Amino acid sequence: MNSQIRYLMCPPDYYDVDYVINPWMEGNIHKSSRDRAVEQWHNLYKILKEHAIVDLVPPQPGWPDMVFTANAGLVLGDRVVMSRFLHKERQGEEPFFKQWFEENGYKIYELPKDLPFEGAGDALLDREGRWLWAGYGFRSELDSHPYLAKWLDIEVLSLRLIDERFYHLDTCFCPLTDGYLLYYPAAFDSYSNRLIEMRVAPEKRIAIAESDAVNFACNAVNIEQVVVMNKASDALKARLSEIGFQLIETPLTEFLKAGGAAKCLTLRVTEPIREEVHANMPVESRIVRMEGHLLDAGLINRALDLVVDNGGSFQVLNFQLGEQRQSTSRAEIKVSAPSHGVMEEIISQLIDLGAVDLPEDERDAKLEPVTVAGVAPDDFYVTTIYPTEVRIQGQWIKVENQRMDGAIAVSQTPQGWVARCKLLRDLEVGEQVVVDVQGIRTIRKTESREKRNAEEFSFMSAGVSSERRVELVVEQVAWELRKIRDAGGKVVVTAGPVVIHTGGGEHLARLIREGYVQVLLGGNAIAVHDLEQAIMGTSLGVDMKRGVAVRGGHRHHLKVINTIRRYGSIAKAVEAGIIKSGVMYECVKNNVPFCLAGSIRDDGPLPDTQMDLLKAQAEYAELLKGADMILMLSSMLHSIGVGNMTPAGVKMVCVDINPAVVTKLSDRGSIESVGVVTDVGLFLSLLVQQLDKLTSPYTAKVS
Ligand SMILES: NC(=O)c1ccc[n+]([C@@H]2O[C@H](COP(=O)([O-])OP(=O)(O)OC[C@H]3O[C@@H](n4cnc5c(N)ncnc54)[C@H](O)[C@@H]3O)[C@@H](O)[C@H]2O)c1
Repeated sequence: MNSQIRYLMCPPDYYDVDYVINPWMEGNIHKSSRDRAVEQWHNLYKILKEHAIVDLVPPQPGWPDMVFTANAGLVLGDRVVMSRFLHKERQGEEPFFKQWFEENGYKIYELPKDLPFEGAGDALLDREGRWLWAGYGFRSELDSHPYLAKWLDIEVLSLRLIDERFYHLDTCFCPLTDGYLLYYPAAFDSYSNRLIEMRVAPEKRIAIAESDAVNFACNAVNIEQVVVMNKASDALKARLSEIGFQLIETPLTEFLKAGGAAKCLTLRVTEPIREEVHANMPVESRIVRMEGHLLDAGLINRALDLVVDNGGSFQVLNFQLGEQRQSTSRAEIKVSAPSHGVMEEIISQLIDLGAVDLPEDERDAKLEPVTVAGVAPDDFYVTTIYPTEVRIQGQWIKVENQRMDGAIAVSQTPQGWVARCKLLRDLEVGEQVVVDVQGIRTIRKTESREKRNAEEFSFMSAGVSSERRVELVVEQVAWELRKIRDAGGKVVVTAGPVVIHTGGGEHLARLIREGYVQVLLGGNAIAVHDLEQAIMGTSLGVDMKRGVAVRGGHRHHLKVINTIRRYGSIAKAVEAGIIKSGVMYECVKNNVPFCLAGSIRDDGPLPDTQMDLLKAQAEYAELLKGADMILMLSSMLHSIGVGNMTPAGVKMVCVDINPAVVTKLSDRGSIESVGVVTDVGLFLSLLVQQLDKLTSPYTAKVS
């Protein structure tokens, strides 16, 4: 027996499963056998007494879980941080444990009342005493960790639990003597797993299988080379013995029914301090404010979910609900993250949702110079489609040329500060670029509920529409097209060759002829197949009138490319009378600018196809400027390219037969985009029919 090591246990006189506060308790209320529990507890007590001193805290009627003394508090040296139980079912244990620590001369630290922390159940010392592993996610709050670091003067490494069966850190994680670690990796998020891998060498990590984890193999008591647990598989036994541990199995099945085993039933109350170890707490906190229709637009839920999903935790400090139908709500949220990297990820996503720093916390954006042309400083802020502002010398500056996936370059001009979205490749040496996530905000329109509903109704709201809704969407797109044309606005169409193969070419040509389209963007293929149809009557060798393959038709498109190459451009071929109809013909005849961006799979290419991709991107961006609406017709490649260049506020309609493509393109988190899963030929034919109805004298009279 080692007289330097002491444990605290609580006899199971009142132990039972009386309520459900974890998944193990479900279906087990009053199902545990008192006699068996007493016997199992005594067996464990006896084993521990052979290796250490065991003190007892008197059990209390009405507090059945007091038997799990691991949750009494966390001890280091002569200090104890008392638990603050999350569930009221256990809060009554707190004074009894506190009394025991007081009577035994510990210096007591108590967390604020509303900050849950469940003691050594969620905080485990590295057995070499180098640092403290602290869990959060279910019972303990991340915000409790900085207190542990301060009070116990130790480095705290925060680990996030993600499997509710392993609700306390000690259910899936057990540091062992000599720096070994027994753990169940699937119980942690990827950030935590990386942290574990950074701190514990591969040969010291014993990752256990789920079958061992559910037997609570990690809920083990380790005293020097001895490991005591409920049960272990042969493989785990072999592994532990290989590295010199003596495994003692002692069944604790009655306690498993309440979600605990050996470690939960004990608290080590002698933990030596290493003098050279000091506090280090990477947990960061920030307070942000959100304003708008937080509840009915679901913004607050999205914000809080994204904080947790990314490994942070939050506390809503203040929530003012809009009192009138029109008025907006306002929330102040304290966000905590286990490291600066995680905090940056969370805050950049919160900025996308319109969150801003509290005015009293506002700081200027951080700037760093470009040192290599075309390369941003590490940690640069990646832009989104939303209108953005950056704070420079106390002033909020609007970012120009807003687009996603760029960097923000800031420069001083005689007129003042200018901030611009720039692509990485356009960054010049010496330019100042915004890094980190401070001093940045996105501007969200907080339209009135009525206006938003009307907009959403008239534009179907963001989302993928099912076949049944196609006609309704077509009707609304037709209205929009009419409205934009009549107001002299700008509609950009991105189209793939499927438009031609599905017979939609004549409809698109008509839209161009009738002034509904101001710009056409696509690749080599839409033009090649349209020209093939115009010159040879086939599309990919299929006769478009009879629907049958033509002999030798597979060569048609190459012959067409060759012809256009002979003339030098599509426009010259139109001029020469070689092309008399089709999409490209209408573009030329109606002075509708087009840009054909090249790709690796292009045949030819046509002389008009821009094979310099950087130039093609620049031409696309130029032609997209000022667009009111973009119709994306069955070209994943070009539509995604266009989507990335387009700021929020431009209406987008994406038509594709593949729901995944539609979801990707229309899921911009803005109300102006709508997806239609349907055949593009059918969509275009319905669209021209609808436009015909709108312009027929009958409809005109009725409306
Ligand atoms: N001969 C050529 O030169 C040639 C031929 C083909 C493609 N290309 C080039 O390859 C690149 C990619 O081509 P892309 O844009 O055709 O391909 P893409 O894969 O980017 O997009 C085609 C899209 O059409 C969708 N689709 C298929 N059938 C449909 C239907 N009936 N109705 C609605 N949607 C339908 C698909 O789901 C897909 O998302 C382009 O630059 C193109 O010019 C060149």
